[in-house]
Amino acid sequence: MLIFLWAEGHNGVIGQNGQLPWHLPADMHFFKTVTTGNTIVAGARTYRSFGRSLPNRQNIVVTHQPASNFPDTVIVLDSLDAVRTYAAAHSDDKIFVVGGAQLFVGLQDDVDFLYRTVIDANFTGDTWMPVMNYEKFQLIATQPGIRNDKNPYDYHFEQYQRR
Ligand SMILES: NC(=O)c1ccc[n+]([C@@H]2O[C@H](COP(=O)([O-])OP(=O)(O)OC[C@H]3O[C@@H](n4cnc5c(N)ncnc54)[C@H](OP(=O)(O)O)[C@@H]3O)[C@@H](O)[C@H]2O)c1
Repeated sequence: MLIFLWAEGHNGVIGQNGQLPWHLPADMHFFKTVTTGNTIVAGARTYRSFGRSLPNRQNIVVTHQPASNFPDTVIVLDSLDAVRTYAAAHSDDKIFVVGGAQLFVGLQDDVDFLYRTVIDANFTGDTWMPVMNYEKFQLIATQPGIRNDKNPYDYHFEQYQRR
């Protein structure tokens, strides 16, 4: 199953200067909880933003670079078709596409399930989520995020499945 997992602020902003526009540890914790034990697929810029391959998950990077630029444990794919082929061959796995925008744009017709964190705040950014066609998805769960000193925004978590 191919799944998108992302967080967005107002206007669908997701990135700024190769990083997240916000610091929201509760969402990072959510990301870790949901993806651990599964597979994550990241574009090369997003993978770079992690600073390392993420532990306890199969890491897949999409890039035109040679595989030798990445650790041995990372699967390197050179096209979105290669991602589709991988997903078809691992259909029982939860495969989380974790960005960035280039992957979300290219795989939006393939994705089966969405995890979206909605942050109710304005951020300066340079990268945006593509406008998804939510008519093709059904909202099946919403959970409020807890606002506190370390997580100083209103935010909530949503799950959608393809209709
Ligand atoms: N808020 C969120 O949930 C979230 C999630 C993810 C990322 N982000 C943010 O979004 C920004 C990064 O997103 P981005 O869209 O700029 O970059 P990206 O999608 O992470 O990475 C782009 C790179 O991926 C590779 N790539 C993309 N499509 C490819 C294809 N069809 N075939 C082969 N390689 C392909 C290329 O790497 P090469 O140039 O190496 O060939 C390309 O330069 C960062 O600011 C990041 O923090 C936010």
